Amino acid sequence: MRWRMKSCRLILLLFVLTAEIFAVHEFVKPTCKKSLELMNECARDVLEHFPDITFSYGYSDEFSFVFKKETKFYQRRASKILSLIVSFFTSVYVSKWKEVFPEKDLRYSPSFRGRVILCASVEVLQAYLAWRQNECHISNQYDTCLWQLIKGGKPEKEAREMLEGSRKQDKNELLYQCFNINYKKSIPQIFRQGTCALRTEVEVSVKNKDDCCPIKRSKRRVTLVHMENIASRRFWNDQLYLLKELGYFSEDVNKTKTEYLKSFQYESRLLLSTWIVIRIDGCHFHRFSKVHKFEKPNDEAALNLMNSCAVGVLEEFNDIVFSYGVSDEYSFVLKKESQLYGRRASEIVSAIVSYFSSMYTMKWKDFFPHKEMMYPPYFDGRAICYPSSQILRDYLAWRQVDCHINNQYNTCFWMLVKSGKTKSAAQSYLKGTQVQEKNELLAQLSGTTDYYNKLPPMFRLGSSVYRNKEEKKILSDKEEEGSLDKLCVKVVIEYCNIIEPSFWEAHSATFSLTGASKYGVPFGNPFSSCFPKEFTSIVHSQHGCFHHLCRQGMSRVARPTCMHVFQENMLKILHDIKMYTNAHTHTIKL
Ligand code: GTP
Ligand code: MG
Repeated sequence: MRWRMKSCRLILLLFVLTAEIFAVHEFVKPTCKKSLELMNECARDVLEHFPDITFSYGYSDEFSFVFKKETKFYQRRASKILSLIVSFFTSVYVSKWKEVFPEKDLRYSPSFRGRVILCASVEVLQAYLAWRQNECHISNQYDTCLWQLIKGGKPEKEAREMLEGSRKQDKNELLYQCFNINYKKSIPQIFRQGTCALRTEVEVSVKNKDDCCPIKRSKRRVTLVHMENIASRRFWNDQLYLLKELGYFSEDVNKTKTEYLKSFQYESRLLLSTWIVIRIDGCHFHRFSKVHKFEKPNDEAALNLMNSCAVGVLEEFNDIVFSYGVSDEYSFVLKKESQLYGRRASEIVSAIVSYFSSMYTMKWKDFFPHKEMMYPPYFDGRAICYPSSQILRDYLAWRQVDCHINNQYNTCFWMLVKSGKTKSAAQSYLKGTQVQEKNELLAQLSGTTDYYNKLPPMFRLGSSVYRNKEEKKILSDKEEEGSLDKLCVKVVIEYCNIIEPSFWEAHSATFSLTGASKYGVPFGNPFSSCFPKEFTSIVHSQHGCFHHLCRQGMSRVARPTCMHVFQENMLKILHDIKMYTNAHTHTIKL
């Protein structure tokens, strides 16, 4: 989805997915100041990292990020922006945890969900901010009363009943009279008012001139403030950059119109009875892998880390039946009848991408015990619906073909570079080469016959993660009762050919994806275990055509002609598969 209205103000709303994070880590009640400070620091990093975010406001476990009106960030693609910010926020949250809670180990992967809200006018933005700050006040005042009553000995149920229907004034009086708490004076601003992240101009000394006088430059810094009424003209109109990037508040808002504002939170739902694929992809992983010195072209530890996160995602989200990963991407397939988050695309995408990012950051040390993570990684995500299992299988075949083509190219490329060629010489050398030529080149450079097919299957075939159901004999505690067969479900990682129908037939009970693939051909694959079957038929016909032309005495034109037909066919297959898929950024080198 792309935002149509070019100058809408965009708000991204993030909130914590699960309450477990509070319970498991025994956060102080009613509100843990440190947990708020951690959220605030994450928001500060988000603003520092994404200059198009102008303003941010948060309280409790939520944060709203407001983009400048004219933003062209990722050309305003909703899913892309939402997933990037949610993923970045999550990775920072996990990375900073130890600084804020040195005494508490992070025992549970925190994750956030988000949504995009469009504000067509500055008045809507103003009303939105007033609403969120009012919610902050209401919930904090309620929680303060509730926990005072509980601390004072009231059972929770009774305390809640006491507060039901009470007005703001009643709660203030209760706090003052029963607990000697002056709400406004005794409760810190960070709880009552929430936190704004603002950009402020500061003067910084850059370097000394010859006469030792420092050169001053003005720079925008992100500062965190707690203010009473962020939707007031007095606060807003004082921040000149907000006026420029978002607009001027011409009147104060007196009343929050909750229902009216909720109507702006409309969210599209994914088509019923379709397979949902959530594909996530590492953002700027070219740089990330360089900074962290990943081995080229494949870093086993990095790929194992990706796989381990995918296992975690499957364990967390029961509706995911299958996932396939290669390089810095993973595709998660949700069952057709899934009702996860009411099939709201933004919630599903953000929850999965956030959980994956959380685990990637948490598990980093397990896979790279001797490498410091230099900066938080983040991923983008998108949702695609596939109406039939056949098309879904074609999508997965496309990803595996992509894995094979890229991996073979990259293996050749880096081997040429290692042999002394420059990167551009290696690139020109490989231009236009075919599969067979690449295999021969690899065999020649490595001195090993069939070198490519001897590479680890994880590199050649990518990784498939799914739940394997198997019957196991479980010994009963009481021996006389004997053993019983139990269906055990385990998430497994396999490196296998998922283009072959045999894979889906073998797992038909798990996936119900056994519909015949459009491009399946009825004979075996004589070339290599990893070579896509659809290509086999083209290669066969190409060979037939080649020999036919040679027999006709046209050997000189046979090769280029067949190659042309071969490439056309390959491209047609890839094009057909792509038709069902949003534009993909990988270039396919044939
Ligand atoms: P965007 O996804 O558009 O943000 O760009 P990107 O830099 O992430 O590139 P892309 O997703 O197209 O490709 C993934 C990149 O990650 C590859 O080009 C590699 O540079 C890098 N990468 C992924 N896996 C490995 C690995 O195992 N080893 C090394 N050295 N690099 C890897
Ligand atoms: Mg990437």
